[in-house]
Amino acid sequence: MLIDIHVHILPEIDDGAGSLDEAVEMSRCACGDGISAVVATPHVISGIYHPARETILTAVCRFNSVLRENDIPLEVLPGAEYRLEPDLPERLTRGELLTLNDSGRYLLVEMPSACVPRYAGRIFYELLLRGVTPVIAHPERNTMLVKEPSLLYDLVFRGALVQVTAGSLTGVFGSGAARTARLFLEHGCVHFLASDAHSAGGRAPVLSDALKKAGCFLSPEKAARLVSGNPRRAIRGESIETAGLLFK
Ligand SMILES: [Fe+2]
Repeated sequence: MLIDIHVHILPEIDDGAGSLDEAVEMSRCACGDGISAVVATPHVISGIYHPARETILTAVCRFNSVLRENDIPLEVLPGAEYRLEPDLPERLTRGELLTLNDSGRYLLVEMPSACVPRYAGRIFYELLLRGVTPVIAHPERNTMLVKEPSLLYDLVFRGALVQVTAGSLTGVFGSGAARTARLFLEHGCVHFLASDAHSAGGRAPVLSDALKKAGCFLSPEKAARLVSGNPRRAIRGESIETAGLLFK
């Protein structure tokens, strides 16, 4: 079964599902694609979206009740997508952040879309020192990394994990993102494929197409690990092997 670690499925909390009906429709769509569990990852960006971890935990609990009432066999787990900001390590220490499935192990972090901040390496290192591994969300859509993909290798070499967006592989975000996503895959720098779904329509929770595409560049076992094995280990707070992914 597939597990999607990056979905904006909670209703009316960010720019994802705009209503409860849409969130339910997204859940049906995920189930139809063979997804058994998703991590709800609303944006947390200072000054724009700032749901507290308790708010997200409560919303996930409520939404799972709605899914059970509607007989939709999807498990929604708590999480968040944090904008990379210099005070992330301090907020983690204060207990304010929500890791994937609240397991205390993996934190989904989004960089600005146009650059890799100079402090990225230092922040990731400080998170790692606190026992939390950063998972870099969709680096293939970052314009600096599209121009200079080797910058990502350095962050991965230092311990960060990488989530590529399913739609990037299938061409939804243009040729630059598609080319860069493929390059990262072929160089063993990708640990998760996730939908980053925002709706039931254009950016829906679908992983099967990208899994198929990844299978053109990786062995079927390695491709499956990105949507099943590694996500399962992440939500359980278990270690993720990266060495095996370094070469095709
Ligand atoms: Fe996202």
